[in-house]
Amino acid sequence: MCGIVGYNGNKDCVEILLDGLSKLEYRGYDSAGIAVRKDGNIEVVKEKGKLANLREKVEKKKMTGNCGIGHTRWATHGEPSENNAHPHISNDGSVTVVHNGIIENYQELRAKLERHGYTFYSETDTEIVANLLDYYYKKYKLGPIDAIAKTMVRVRGSYALGILFEEYPDDIWVARKDSPMIIGTDKDGSYIASDVPALLKYTNQVYYIDNLEMACLKKDSVTFYDLNGDEIKKELKTIEWDIASAEKEGYEHFMIKEIHEQPEVIGKTLNSLMVDDKIDLSKVGLSEKEIKDISQIYIIACGSAYHVGVCAQYILEDLAKIPVRVDVASEFRYRKPILDKKGLAIVISQSGETADTLAALRECKEMGVKTLGIINVVGSSIAREADHVLYTLAGPEIAVATTKAYSTQLIASYALALEFAKVRGTIDNKEYNEIINELKTIPEKVQSIIDKEIDDIQKLASKLCNLDDAFFIGRNLDYAIALEGSLKLKEISYIHSEAYAAGELKHGTISLIEDNTLVIGLATQEEIFEKTISNMVEVKSRGAYVVCVVPEGSDVSKVSEYTIEIPKTNKYLYSSLVVIPLQLLSYYISCAKGLDVDKPRNLAKSVTVE
Ligand code: G6P
Repeated sequence: MCGIVGYNGNKDCVEILLDGLSKLEYRGYDSAGIAVRKDGNIEVVKEKGKLANLREKVEKKKMTGNCGIGHTRWATHGEPSENNAHPHISNDGSVTVVHNGIIENYQELRAKLERHGYTFYSETDTEIVANLLDYYYKKYKLGPIDAIAKTMVRVRGSYALGILFEEYPDDIWVARKDSPMIIGTDKDGSYIASDVPALLKYTNQVYYIDNLEMACLKKDSVTFYDLNGDEIKKELKTIEWDIASAEKEGYEHFMIKEIHEQPEVIGKTLNSLMVDDKIDLSKVGLSEKEIKDISQIYIIACGSAYHVGVCAQYILEDLAKIPVRVDVASEFRYRKPILDKKGLAIVISQSGETADTLAALRECKEMGVKTLGIINVVGSSIAREADHVLYTLAGPEIAVATTKAYSTQLIASYALALEFAKVRGTIDNKEYNEIINELKTIPEKVQSIIDKEIDDIQKLASKLCNLDDAFFIGRNLDYAIALEGSLKLKEISYIHSEAYAAGELKHGTISLIEDNTLVIGLATQEEIFEKTISNMVEVKSRGAYVVCVVPEGSDVSKVSEYTIEIPKTNKYLYSSLVVIPLQLLSYYISCAKGLDVDKPRNLAKSVTVE
């Protein structure tokens, strides 16, 4: 949600800023802007719409400079417009700001500043920050650090700020609370970015700036400060992701590239959690005693990560016999949950920055419950704050609609379920080894589905792309996948779609079934196969066009108009296979409709505000 970049160094900053913003466009794309220093002046250029519009304007102006900041916006306060786009400047131009986050008390601050004669040209909370910085800067005359610290104390909410002070031409200033921000460095200069992909082309050497800290970036150094203005020492960290993983590499979209990367990243994640054909969670740091003592598991996440939680719930309860409750983070944090201190809270998040998930994690910690994060981005807020972290190795995921991160999160939940079951003695060796052996085949089975289905699904997509509605149905783990399949379809194709527990259809939703309504039925769970098929028969007899996803050899001839067969596997692992054709179908429907697959309207990849 909003992306920030900045560069101060020996190279020209304009291309670095535009290129960095292009890597962050998935975070917000309703407007963008940059501010560049040249010969003592700060030139600001902003434009509504996609980044390409800004690039065109910047190129016409032939902007150059060695120090600048940039922003791509996902509107919160104020409609998407050039006026509301960042950077924002204070009344007399002495302070220029880019901001990611939300200032909650902006109205009160605006009134205060108006009383001091400040005026406002935009509807944004960010313009208030620019003027508040200016106010403290001029009132106390103690320099940027003091002005930023006073502003940080005065504002409520979340922010990552990139700031230029007109009178400090050699510096970019930075402040952070609850919104992501990393700082990179190399021999050519210093960089800021909301996320790793914006930096990878230049450097993999980064500092993590913590909450309520500030930094000053010069061409050849970065200095960190706490709220008192005292200097803090930080360690430089190396990011392991490679540049290629953040580039399209010949694919038309990031989403299809990321779908194709799944066999590899599933394999990598699995290998990182196994030693000698056994799950090994020593890197996660949960002791056997801790695992034995868990009374209850709380899984908390948003979006697709929540859907992984729904899968994990079925598997953990069945295999490890631990009661599990799954919550959407935005509900969890406000439902005044009653938590057992012997419980374990598992938060799942690709970005590690989702505001609601982070807040839920903090709530659990405050209530004395141990926390474990299943996280993809190393050094992200949740990764830093959770008691234990299990890293998925999906690499950078750029498409807004998750695919590979989701698949690696599934692997993480299988590993937890297996380990918990083994330690708690709820699985015998035979079953354990069977599941392990099957787990090792998942990468190649995923690959075989992609290879076998890609052409046919493309054809099916061109047939289905004009539909208005779709329903995904399944029971048990298939219901969990139905949730994900349905979300994938609606978020990138804009087709109204619902997921239903197949047995629940008769309680209302079946009244929506008419001639040719698309129903995608998932039936991989042997014990309840017949029951799900009966539900499909019920919709078919009311005119539905039924597409079935089933294990190879299943007889669905009496119900299915189009059947997608997936390889057989262990009952707990089917989710990893069923999701693949559903991802492909959504992708190709979105393409057939000519939509912006990687950046669907109104969505942002990382939701860092509530
Ligand atoms: C957004 C993304 C989803 C993601 C969800 C949670 O809605 O578009 O793909 O599942 O946020 O994000 P997280 O980073 O916490 O996994």
